[in-house]
Amino acid sequence: MKRYRKILPAIFGVGMLAAALSGCGGSDGGRQIVRIGHNQATDHPTNVALLEFEKFVESKLGDKYNIEIYPSELLGSQTDMVQLTQTGAIDFCVASNSILETFSENYTLFNLPYLFSSADAYHMAMDDPEIVEPIFESTKKAGFEAVTWIDAGTRNFYTVSTPIESPQDLKGLKIRVQQSPTNVRMMDLLGGSATPMGFGEVYTALQSKVIDGAENNEMALTSNGHGDVCKYYSYDMHQMIPDILIGNCAFLDDLSEEDRNIFEEGFTLINKVEREEWVKAVEAAKDRAANDQGVQFLYPDTKPFQETCEAMHEEMLKQYPDLKPIYDKIQDHNEQHPSEAE
Ligand code: GCU
Repeated sequence: MKRYRKILPAIFGVGMLAAALSGCGGSDGGRQIVRIGHNQATDHPTNVALLEFEKFVESKLGDKYNIEIYPSELLGSQTDMVQLTQTGAIDFCVASNSILETFSENYTLFNLPYLFSSADAYHMAMDDPEIVEPIFESTKKAGFEAVTWIDAGTRNFYTVSTPIESPQDLKGLKIRVQQSPTNVRMMDLLGGSATPMGFGEVYTALQSKVIDGAENNEMALTSNGHGDVCKYYSYDMHQMIPDILIGNCAFLDDLSEEDRNIFEEGFTLINKVEREEWVKAVEAAKDRAANDQGVQFLYPDTKPFQETCEAMHEEMLKQYPDLKPIYDKIQDHNEQHPSEAE
Protein backbone atom coordinates (compact mmCIF):
# COMPACT_ATOMS: atom_id res chain seq x y z
CA MET A 1 0.00 0.00 0.00
CA LYS A 2 2.89 2.33 0.90
CA ARG A 3 4.02 2.38 -2.75
CA TYR A 4 0.75 3.95 -3.88
CA ARG A 5 0.87 6.61 -1.22
CA LYS A 6 0.06 10.03 -2.59
CA ILE A 7 -0.06 8.76 -6.17
CA LEU A 8 -3.51 10.25 -6.69
CA PRO A 9 -2.74 13.71 -5.30
CA ALA A 10 0.66 13.65 -7.02
CA ILE A 11 -1.01 13.04 -10.36
CA PHE A 12 -3.95 15.35 -9.89
CA GLY A 13 -3.07 17.94 -7.23
CA VAL A 14 -5.74 18.56 -4.57
CA GLY A 15 -7.89 20.78 -6.81
CA MET A 16 -7.97 18.33 -9.70
CA LEU A 17 -8.38 15.37 -7.37
CA ALA A 18 -11.42 17.12 -5.89
CA ALA A 19 -12.85 17.60 -9.38
CA ALA A 20 -12.03 14.01 -10.36
CA LEU A 21 -13.69 12.57 -7.24
CA SER A 22 -16.87 14.58 -7.63
CA GLY A 23 -16.77 13.80 -11.36
CA CYS A 24 -17.05 10.12 -10.44
CA GLY A 25 -20.68 10.86 -9.71
CA GLY A 26 -20.79 9.87 -6.06
CA SER A 27 -23.35 7.15 -6.72
CA ASP A 28 -23.12 3.44 -7.37
CA GLY A 29 -26.21 1.73 -8.81
CA GLY A 30 -28.46 4.19 -7.00
CA ARG A 31 -26.46 3.99 -3.78
CA GLN A 32 -24.66 7.09 -2.60
CA ILE A 33 -20.91 6.60 -2.30
CA VAL A 34 -19.53 7.84 1.03
CA ARG A 35 -15.76 8.35 0.87
CA ILE A 36 -13.60 8.34 4.01
CA GLY A 37 -9.87 9.04 3.83
CA HIS A 38 -7.13 8.56 6.42
CA ASN A 39 -3.35 8.23 6.62
CA GLN A 40 -2.85 5.02 8.60
CA ALA A 41 -2.04 1.50 7.38
CA THR A 42 -4.76 -1.11 6.99
CA ASP A 43 -3.81 -2.93 10.22
CA HIS A 44 -3.98 0.27 12.33
CA PRO A 45 -6.80 0.62 14.92
CA THR A 46 -8.21 3.58 12.97
CA ASN A 47 -8.72 1.47 9.86
CA VAL A 48 -10.10 -1.46 11.89
CA ALA A 49 -12.67 0.89 13.50
CA LEU A 50 -13.65 2.47 10.17
CA LEU A 51 -14.23 -1.00 8.68
CA GLU A 52 -16.61 -1.71 11.59
CA PHE A 53 -18.39 1.57 10.80
CA GLU A 54 -18.71 0.50 7.15
CA LYS A 55 -20.13 -2.88 8.19
CA PHE A 56 -22.56 -1.29 10.65
CA VAL A 57 -23.91 1.46 8.37
CA GLU A 58 -24.21 -0.88 5.40
CA SER A 59 -26.02 -3.48 7.54
CA LYS A 60 -28.67 -0.84 8.30
CA LEU A 61 -28.65 1.32 5.18
CA GLY A 62 -26.80 -0.78 2.59
CA ASP A 63 -29.48 -0.13 -0.02
CA LYS A 64 -28.76 3.59 0.18
CA TYR A 65 -25.05 4.04 0.94
CA ASN A 66 -21.81 2.44 -0.20
CA ILE A 67 -19.06 3.33 2.31
CA GLU A 68 -15.56 3.42 0.76
CA ILE A 69 -12.47 3.72 2.97
CA TYR A 70 -9.19 5.05 1.57
CA PRO A 71 -6.26 4.30 3.97
CA SER A 72 -2.51 5.08 3.76
CA GLU A 73 -2.71 8.66 2.40
CA LEU A 74 -4.21 7.33 -0.85
CA LEU A 75 -6.11 10.61 -1.05
CA GLY A 76 -3.15 12.73 0.04
CA SER A 77 -1.77 14.13 3.26
CA GLN A 78 -4.09 15.01 6.14
CA THR A 79 -4.05 18.66 5.08
CA ASP A 80 -5.07 17.63 1.54
CA MET A 81 -7.84 15.42 2.91
CA VAL A 82 -9.23 18.14 5.19
CA GLN A 83 -9.48 20.40 2.14
CA LEU A 84 -11.21 17.64 0.16
CA THR A 85 -13.68 17.19 3.03
CA GLN A 86 -14.23 20.93 3.23
CA THR A 87 -15.28 21.11 -0.41
CA GLY A 88 -17.30 17.88 -0.29
CA ALA A 89 -15.05 16.06 -2.79
CA ILE A 90 -14.91 13.41 -0.07
CA ASP A 91 -17.33 13.08 2.84
CA PHE A 92 -15.09 12.30 5.83
CA CYS A 93 -11.46 12.09 6.81
CA VAL A 94 -9.39 11.49 9.92
CA ALA A 95 -7.09 14.38 10.78
CA SER A 96 -4.78 14.89 13.70
CA ASN A 97 -5.98 17.61 16.05
CA SER A 98 -2.64 19.32 15.27
CA ILE A 99 -3.57 19.84 11.62
CA LEU A 100 -6.97 21.27 12.54
CA GLU A 101 -5.34 24.07 14.52
CA THR A 102 -4.72 25.89 11.22
CA PHE A 103 -8.43 25.64 10.35
CA SER A 104 -9.79 26.80 13.74
CA GLU A 105 -7.83 28.31 16.63
CA ASN A 106 -10.08 26.41 19.07
CA TYR A 107 -8.20 23.22 18.23
CA THR A 108 -5.02 24.81 19.64
CA LEU A 109 -6.18 23.80 23.11
CA PHE A 110 -5.77 20.01 22.70
CA ASN A 111 -2.31 20.52 21.16
CA LEU A 112 -0.85 22.06 24.32
CA PRO A 113 1.98 20.04 25.84
CA TYR A 114 1.16 18.48 29.21
CA LEU A 115 -2.48 19.61 29.01
CA PHE A 116 -3.81 16.39 30.53
CA SER A 117 -2.52 14.99 33.81
CA SER A 118 -3.15 11.34 32.90
CA ALA A 119 -4.63 9.13 30.21
CA ASP A 120 -7.83 8.87 32.30
CA ALA A 121 -8.15 12.66 32.53
CA TYR A 122 -7.61 12.88 28.76
CA HIS A 123 -10.29 10.28 28.03
CA MET A 124 -12.78 11.86 30.46
CA ALA A 125 -12.21 15.30 28.94
CA MET A 126 -12.60 14.06 25.37
CA ASP A 127 -15.82 12.26 26.37
CA ASP A 128 -17.21 15.45 27.95
CA PRO A 129 -19.58 17.21 25.50
CA GLU A 130 -19.15 20.55 27.29
CA ILE A 131 -15.46 20.41 26.42
CA VAL A 132 -15.49 19.02 22.90
CA GLU A 133 -18.68 20.46 21.38
CA PRO A 134 -17.56 24.10 21.16
CA ILE A 135 -14.37 22.87 19.52
CA PHE A 136 -15.93 20.26 17.25
CA GLU A 137 -18.49 22.76 15.94
CA SER A 138 -16.03 25.61 15.44
CA THR A 139 -15.26 24.78 11.80
CA LYS A 140 -18.87 24.66 10.56
CA LYS A 141 -18.44 27.93 8.70
CA ALA A 142 -15.44 26.38 6.96
CA GLY A 143 -17.69 23.55 5.71
CA PHE A 144 -16.79 20.68 8.04
CA GLU A 145 -17.38 19.54 11.61
CA ALA A 146 -15.96 16.88 13.91
CA VAL A 147 -18.16 13.83 14.50
CA THR A 148 -16.02 11.85 16.93
CA TRP A 149 -12.51 11.62 18.35
CA ILE A 150 -10.02 8.78 18.03
CA ASP A 151 -7.35 7.89 20.58
CA ALA A 152 -3.79 8.39 19.37
CA GLY A 153 -2.06 7.71 22.69
CA THR A 154 0.80 9.76 24.06
CA ARG A 155 3.47 11.46 21.94
CA ASN A 156 7.13 10.98 22.87
CA PHE A 157 10.50 11.72 21.27
CA TYR A 158 12.43 9.10 19.33
CA THR A 159 15.74 9.46 17.59
CA VAL A 160 18.08 7.61 15.26
CA SER A 161 21.04 7.58 17.62
CA THR A 162 20.74 10.03 20.56
CA PRO A 163 19.06 8.86 23.76
CA ILE A 164 16.85 11.70 25.04
CA GLU A 165 17.03 11.80 28.83
CA SER A 166 16.40 15.55 29.34
CA PRO A 167 15.53 18.61 27.21
CA GLN A 168 19.29 19.38 26.94
CA ASP A 169 19.69 16.23 24.84
CA LEU A 170 17.43 17.70 22.15
CA LYS A 171 19.76 20.63 21.58
CA GLY A 172 20.99 20.81 18.00
CA LEU A 173 18.80 17.90 16.84
CA LYS A 174 16.42 18.28 13.92
CA ILE A 175 13.13 16.83 15.07
CA ARG A 176 10.13 16.37 12.81
CA VAL A 177 6.95 17.89 14.22
CA GLN A 178 3.43 18.07 12.83
CA GLN A 179 2.56 21.17 10.82
CA SER A 180 1.11 23.26 13.64
CA PRO A 181 2.37 26.49 15.26
CA THR A 182 1.92 24.94 18.74
CA ASN A 183 4.21 22.05 17.91
CA VAL A 184 6.87 24.34 16.46
CA ARG A 185 6.73 26.54 19.58
CA MET A 186 7.01 23.48 21.84
CA MET A 187 10.08 22.25 19.99
CA ASP A 188 11.68 25.72 20.10
CA LEU A 189 11.23 25.84 23.88
CA LEU A 190 12.64 22.35 24.33
CA GLY A 191 15.75 23.33 22.38
CA GLY A 192 15.52 21.09 19.33
CA SER A 193 15.20 22.38 15.80
CA ALA A 194 11.54 21.96 14.73
CA THR A 195 11.19 20.45 11.25
CA PRO A 196 7.51 20.44 10.27
CA MET A 197 6.47 17.95 7.58
CA GLY A 198 3.61 15.63 6.66
CA PHE A 199 3.48 12.18 8.24
CA GLY A 200 4.13 10.38 4.95
CA GLU A 201 7.51 12.10 4.51
CA VAL A 202 8.95 11.11 7.90
CA TYR A 203 10.32 7.64 7.14
CA THR A 204 12.41 8.82 4.19
CA ALA A 205 13.56 11.92 6.08
CA LEU A 206 14.79 9.73 8.96
CA GLN A 207 16.45 7.24 6.67
CA SER A 208 18.25 9.90 4.66
CA LYS A 209 19.27 11.74 7.88
CA VAL A 210 17.46 14.94 6.87
CA ILE A 211 16.13 14.76 10.45
CA ASP A 212 17.60 13.22 13.60
CA GLY A 213 14.33 12.12 15.08
CA ALA A 214 10.61 12.67 15.45
CA GLU A 215 7.88 12.46 18.07
CA ASN A 216 4.84 10.26 18.04
CA ASN A 217 3.07 7.35 19.71
CA GLU A 218 4.56 3.82 19.67
CA MET A 219 2.60 2.77 16.56
CA ALA A 220 4.81 4.99 14.38
CA LEU A 221 7.74 2.69 15.22
CA THR A 222 6.06 -0.41 13.82
CA SER A 223 3.10 0.49 11.62
CA ASN A 224 5.15 3.19 9.86
CA GLY A 225 8.52 1.45 10.21
CA HIS A 226 10.25 4.34 12.03
CA GLY A 227 11.68 1.83 14.55
CA ASP A 228 13.75 0.31 11.72
CA VAL A 229 15.77 3.54 11.74
CA CYS A 230 15.28 5.05 15.23
CA LYS A 231 16.74 3.07 18.09
CA TYR A 232 15.79 5.23 21.12
CA TYR A 233 12.23 6.01 22.24
CA SER A 234 11.94 8.28 25.34
CA TYR A 235 8.77 8.49 27.40
CA ASP A 236 8.78 12.24 28.08
CA MET A 237 4.97 12.13 27.55
CA HIS A 238 4.73 15.62 26.07
CA GLN A 239 1.31 15.47 24.40
CA MET A 240 -1.89 13.46 24.16
CA ILE A 241 -3.19 14.65 20.81
CA PRO A 242 -6.42 13.06 19.61
CA ASP A 243 -7.22 12.26 16.01
CA ILE A 244 -10.52 13.70 14.87
CA LEU A 245 -13.01 12.28 12.36
CA ILE A 246 -14.42 15.22 10.45
CA GLY A 247 -17.38 15.23 8.07
CA ASN A 248 -18.55 17.55 5.30
CA CYS A 249 -21.39 19.70 6.69
CA ALA A 250 -23.51 19.61 3.54
CA PHE A 251 -23.38 15.78 3.51
CA LEU A 252 -24.32 15.57 7.20
CA ASP A 253 -27.09 18.18 6.93
CA ASP A 254 -28.64 16.41 3.93
CA LEU A 255 -29.09 13.15 5.83
CA SER A 256 -32.68 12.38 6.90
CA GLU A 257 -33.19 12.25 10.66
CA GLU A 258 -33.41 8.47 10.53
CA ASP A 259 -30.20 8.08 8.51
CA ARG A 260 -28.40 10.65 10.64
CA ASN A 261 -29.21 8.62 13.76
CA ILE A 262 -27.65 5.52 12.20
CA PHE A 263 -24.55 7.49 11.20
CA GLU A 264 -24.31 8.91 14.75
CA GLU A 265 -24.48 5.37 16.17
CA GLY A 266 -21.71 4.49 13.72
CA PHE A 267 -19.51 7.38 14.90
CA THR A 268 -19.90 6.20 18.50
CA LEU A 269 -18.94 2.70 17.37
CA ILE A 270 -15.76 4.03 15.71
CA ASN A 271 -14.67 5.64 18.98
CA LYS A 272 -15.44 2.50 20.99
CA VAL A 273 -13.78 0.00 18.65
CA GLU A 274 -10.71 2.15 18.07
CA ARG A 275 -10.11 2.66 21.80
CA GLU A 276 -10.35 -1.08 22.46
CA GLU A 277 -8.05 -1.88 19.55
CA TRP A 278 -5.63 0.89 20.55
CA VAL A 279 -4.72 -0.66 23.90
CA LYS A 280 -3.89 -4.00 22.25
CA ALA A 281 -2.08 -2.40 19.30
CA VAL A 282 0.25 -0.30 21.51
CA GLU A 283 1.21 -3.34 23.60
CA ALA A 284 1.97 -5.31 20.42
CA ALA A 285 3.91 -2.36 18.92
CA LYS A 286 6.12 -2.04 22.02
CA ASP A 287 6.81 -5.71 21.98
CA ARG A 288 7.70 -5.76 18.28
CA ALA A 289 9.80 -2.58 18.49
CA ALA A 290 11.84 -3.92 21.42
CA ASN A 291 12.27 -7.47 20.19
CA ASP A 292 12.34 -7.27 16.39
CA GLN A 293 13.53 -3.74 15.69
CA GLY A 294 15.94 -3.36 18.62
CA VAL A 295 14.38 -0.13 19.89
CA GLN A 296 15.43 0.82 23.41
CA PHE A 297 12.67 2.37 25.55
CA LEU A 298 13.78 5.08 28.01
CA TYR A 299 11.84 6.49 30.95
CA PRO A 300 13.30 9.94 31.76
CA ASP A 301 12.02 12.24 34.49
CA THR A 302 9.20 14.10 32.70
CA LYS A 303 9.30 17.14 35.03
CA PRO A 304 12.10 19.11 33.26
CA PHE A 305 10.29 18.68 29.94
CA GLN A 306 7.00 19.79 31.46
CA GLU A 307 8.51 22.82 33.20
CA THR A 308 10.19 23.93 29.97
CA CYS A 309 6.83 23.99 28.17
CA GLU A 310 4.73 25.36 31.03
CA ALA A 311 4.64 28.95 29.74
CA MET A 312 2.67 27.79 26.70
CA HIS A 313 -0.54 27.40 28.73
CA GLU A 314 -0.58 31.07 29.80
CA GLU A 315 0.49 32.17 26.32
CA MET A 316 -2.42 30.34 24.74
CA LEU A 317 -4.98 31.65 27.24
CA LYS A 318 -3.75 35.16 26.64
CA GLN A 319 -3.99 34.77 22.88
CA TYR A 320 -7.37 32.96 22.94
CA PRO A 321 -9.18 34.04 26.15
CA ASP A 322 -12.45 32.48 24.90
CA LEU A 323 -10.88 29.06 25.48
CA LYS A 324 -10.41 29.70 29.23
CA PRO A 325 -13.75 28.14 30.39
CA ILE A 326 -12.96 24.96 28.42
CA TYR A 327 -9.40 24.93 29.73
CA ASP A 328 -10.78 25.19 33.29
CA LYS A 329 -13.14 22.26 32.71
CA ILE A 330 -10.15 20.18 31.64
CA GLN A 331 -8.44 21.11 34.93
CA ASP A 332 -11.46 19.63 36.80
CA HIS A 333 -10.86 16.30 35.06
CA ASN A 334 -7.14 16.60 35.82
CA GLU A 335 -7.91 17.03 39.51
CA GLN A 336 -10.15 13.98 39.51
CA HIS A 337 -7.58 11.89 37.61
CA PRO A 338 -4.09 13.01 38.62
CA SER A 339 -0.96 11.61 37.09
CA GLU A 340 -0.46 7.85 37.64
CA ALA A 341 2.96 8.74 39.02
CA GLU A 342 1.55 10.89 41.86
C1 GCU B 1 -0.23 9.94 14.63
C2 GCU B 1 -1.64 10.38 14.41
C3 GCU B 1 -1.85 10.83 12.96
C4 GCU B 1 -0.81 11.87 12.59
C5 GCU B 1 0.58 11.40 12.90
C6 GCU B 1 1.61 12.51 12.65
O1 GCU B 1 0.03 8.80 13.88
O2 GCU B 1 -2.52 9.31 14.69
O3 GCU B 1 -3.11 11.38 12.80
O4 GCU B 1 -0.90 12.19 11.23
O5 GCU B 1 0.66 10.99 14.24
O6 GCU B 1 2.52 12.63 13.43
O7 GCU B 1 1.46 13.23 11.66
